Amino acid sequence: MKKLVALTLAAVMTVSVLTACGSKETAGSSTPAEGTEADASKEGQDVSKEEAEPEAQEPAKEEEQASDTEGTENAGEGSVSEALADGVLTVGTNAEFPPFEYVDDNGEPDGFDIALIKAIGEKLGVEVKVENMEFDALVASIGSKIDVAIAGMTVTEERQATVDFSDSYYDALQYVIIPEGAEIATAEDLVGKTIGVQLGTTGDFIATDDIEGTTVSQYNKAVDAVNDLINGRVDCVIIDKNPALVFESKFEGQIKALDGAQFDFGVENYAIALPKGDADLAEQINTALKDIKADGTFDELVKTYIEN
Ligand code: ARG
Repeated sequence: MKKLVALTLAAVMTVSVLTACGSKETAGSSTPAEGTEADASKEGQDVSKEEAEPEAQEPAKEEEQASDTEGTENAGEGSVSEALADGVLTVGTNAEFPPFEYVDDNGEPDGFDIALIKAIGEKLGVEVKVENMEFDALVASIGSKIDVAIAGMTVTEERQATVDFSDSYYDALQYVIIPEGAEIATAEDLVGKTIGVQLGTTGDFIATDDIEGTTVSQYNKAVDAVNDLINGRVDCVIIDKNPALVFESKFEGQIKALDGAQFDFGVENYAIALPKGDADLAEQINTALKDIKADGTFDELVKTYIEN
């Protein structure tokens, strides 16, 4: 685990080589996000490398050690978490991030994450209620408006100051979307560019904190960033791999998604964000996740939603 953290840090530091004291602006664009760059610039993309290792863990012990039990009154082992006590797990998401979450033709949130959390709810014997909200509001809403959040959310140290995370369920990487034919191929090419991002995402943190001289246009919806790319208002968009690939095929011929490895971006891990200190909930969700991986459901969902 230490080695992985070191590797990730090395990757982050490689990106940081580009960072000097370039000034940052938040460009107003067609759909400027309300949030501030201060929100975003605080968080780096120190990515924690917690991997889900189904066979290697003994859920009860492992989770008790891993979780911070401060500040909550969790009842004893085997008892029901406060978040589950009413039989409803209220899950926040931001359905602007295909294939992990999007609004389907019936106006309902769907996607890999939604199917995954529903499968987890089934294992836990609770009803899953999905609340669609802005990505940037998710972490702060845990424990009040929502019980947990699933949103292709990368584990970061900054988020871990506010919430706990489940075991990681997916590896990710930031990609760079450019207009077809544009000459952007390396980290150096991003210096000084106008970059579109979804507000409060790791793509935002990279564009804002790690690349020199950028102007960052922050959008509440990733698709608006992509539209502004097509309209020539931004030079590129930094967003996670799978959504980048979905957008590339949706706007085929107009844009191109470039592998983040070309830009020395580090690997990220998606996990479910949980209320801080609810060890019982973390244990139950991690156990359900392991079961879902072990019984083949997880792979089915990957095939249905991601590799289709
Ligand atoms: N993985 C990135 C992050 O955690 C982006 C997630 C955006 N998710 C969404 N549902 N809009 O910051």
